[in-house]
Amino acid sequence: MIADYSKDKALFEKCITFVDEIFPGCKQFALKGMHYGASWSDASIPFVIEDKGKIVAHVGVLPLTVVLNGNIHQTAAIHAVGVNPIDRGKGYFKQLMNEVMDYVKQNYESSFLMTQKPYLFRNYPYTIMLPEYDFVLKESGFSSKKGDLRYLNLDNSDDFALLNKLLPKSLPLSNQFSFNGKNAITLFILNSMYGKIGYSDRLGTIVLHQVIDNTLYLREIVSQNEQKLSDIIEIIPESFNKVVLQFCPDRFLNENEYTAILARPENCVMVSPEFKFNEKYFRYPEVYSC
Ligand SMILES: CC(C)(COP(=O)(O)OP(=O)(O)OC[C@H]1O[C@@H](n2cnc3c(N)ncnc32)[C@H](O)[C@@H]1OP(=O)(O)O)[C@@H](O)C(=O)NCCC(=O)NCCS
Repeated sequence: MIADYSKDKALFEKCITFVDEIFPGCKQFALKGMHYGASWSDASIPFVIEDKGKIVAHVGVLPLTVVLNGNIHQTAAIHAVGVNPIDRGKGYFKQLMNEVMDYVKQNYESSFLMTQKPYLFRNYPYTIMLPEYDFVLKESGFSSKKGDLRYLNLDNSDDFALLNKLLPKSLPLSNQFSFNGKNAITLFILNSMYGKIGYSDRLGTIVLHQVIDNTLYLREIVSQNEQKLSDIIEIIPESFNKVVLQFCPDRFLNENEYTAILARPENCVMVSPEFKFNEKYFRYPEVYSC
């Protein structure tokens, strides 16, 4: 049944301890996130089954605002799905999922989930959003660097304040599909706090990127002002000869400027029938994985 973290002070500790048994490392991840203001218990709505005061099954519902096909859309992610190993096969997952299906239908325009086991959701109205694409810039030859990119240290109060100032008012990464709002900020912090968060003072822009085998992978661009992709590329200090965008590129590139190639995301996205993506190439920006 649905539970409420704000009404039961012991509930979060019980839930996160349970989820950590199923997905080891989850508790440490959630506690570190809380330290940076990214609170799992503020973001996620727990559906639980308890036995003698102990959680034996959990499904979380994470409300998220997205930009979808140019419009603001209220969706919810189903996450942290687990049943105690000795209680599996008793129908607990089914019971919670049926409650969650009713809840999300009543409260959000759509719902989705990310999984490596899509077969588990065959009894529910989800379809797989595959293929996903990466977008390879046709232009090449990137040499000159005016790089002032530095990495934010979230334990530094100025950097932390900067992040929290930029994130809430940033322009959407894509008008086709991107994330927006408070819970998206929680996901951004949770999923980027172990990695490097690049920031350019000159552009006032956060960039999540990685250079692997001479290829620059751009994963997120957070800015309150319109930025040109060429300016973003210039601030990256590493050398590379290929640029790949791992999000819908409509705000940065025209269709004739990139080649869409198949992406290999770790998890597949499954969406409810109400989540309709109208464009040709879908890409889930992985910093919002949940
Ligand atoms: C997956 C999991 C939640 C299922 O919980 P459960 O309580 O045993 O599932 P239920 O008894 O409610 O079964 C519900 C349905 O799912 C099916 N199912 C459950 N586990 C399954 C599995 N491993 N493979 C295929 N189908 C499975 C059941 O056959 C049943 O289908 P039916 O209604 O058509 O008969 C549980 O095994 C678990 O916690 N696994 C580890 C964590 C995990 O994988 N979470 C999902 C990540 S997306």
